[in-house]
Amino acid sequence: MPDEINQASVRRFETRILANHPLTPTIYDLRVEHPHPDFTPGQFVNIYLNRGDWLLPRPISVADSGGDWIRLIYAVVGKGTERLSALQPGDKIDVTTILGHGFSIDSASTVIAVGGGVGVPPVYAAAKKAASAGKKVVAIMGFRSDPILLNELAASIGAENVRCAIEDGKAVPALRTAFPEIQLETGTVLTILKQLPVPKEGKALIVSCGPGPMMKAIQAFAPPDRFDLQFSLEERMGCGFGCCAGCVADIRDRASGAISRMGVCSKGPVFAGETVVFNA
Ligand SMILES: Cc1cc2nc3c(=O)[nH]c(=O)nc-3n(C[C@H](O)[C@H](O)[C@H](O)COP(=O)(O)OP(=O)(O)OC[C@H]3O[C@@H](n4cnc5c(N)ncnc54)[C@H](O)[C@@H]3O)c2cc1C
Ligand code: FES
Repeated sequence: MPDEINQASVRRFETRILANHPLTPTIYDLRVEHPHPDFTPGQFVNIYLNRGDWLLPRPISVADSGGDWIRLIYAVVGKGTERLSALQPGDKIDVTTILGHGFSIDSASTVIAVGGGVGVPPVYAAAKKAASAGKKVVAIMGFRSDPILLNELAASIGAENVRCAIEDGKAVPALRTAFPEIQLETGTVLTILKQLPVPKEGKALIVSCGPGPMMKAIQAFAPPDRFDLQFSLEERMGCGFGCCAGCVADIRDRASGAISRMGVCSKGPVFAGETVVFNA
């Protein structure tokens, strides 16, 4: 079980936006200056919009980073992200140090990275990291109609290792033309996951982030003697650093089977997949 976060080490500071542009009509690509950009895929920062009516943080996973910047990819779903999408390069926002427990991929030799919708960015980062560490990687990315990050994934892990599921079948022919190297099909990530060969020896690691029903379906499908699972949970948050119990998830203890409520911000957001109890 991961350790609690050390609240004293959480710092919030003002930073400058370097880029903020749409990838699709509702998904934005934000780059901000950050003095400590090293991250483990699955970790996140809290963004504060510095307005009295939106004091609560908006947690966003780190998708990428460089010398003094981090990249965050977010969907516009409400007032906070709408306001964020209107900001321009040079504008200032507050962000925290990089938080949470990310995916632990070091001991895996095969990684299957499964992302759905805005759960794709942390999984994209995990796939890139796994490929650069010499692991065998397959990425399965699912979207309703507008995919993101496919070409970047192909450049990092090889187009032959990228599979994409599109729920809206009408969008698929045009997308096949736009992404000729990527295997695209109508359906969900489960459609593709079920087509992959089950490992005959050892275990493959599935790292995943996306809608709860998607991860619940992965949990139900993946035989535990063939797959290890790690899920990143994107619960709503209050304080963002372990003080309010506003972000709890039900987690089952492996030994006793007892279910306890754990803070996603302090104990997660990544949990062993078989321990997550999906209530919906
Ligand atoms: C650890 C973590 C990492 C995250 N990473 C990303 C990311 O990389 N990209 C991204 O787009 N989003 C991510 N999210 C979700 C993101 O934080 C919320 O979408 C955002 O805070 C919404 O703010 P808002 O003010 O625009 O929406 P609000 O006005 O607060 O809410 C608008 C609508 O969005 C729903 N909503 C709000 N928060 C969530 C949530 N956490 N999950 C599901 N629905 C929500 C509300 O129920 C409501 O229907 C992450 C969340 C967590 C906890
Ligand atoms: S958001 Fe407050 S404890 Fe997690």
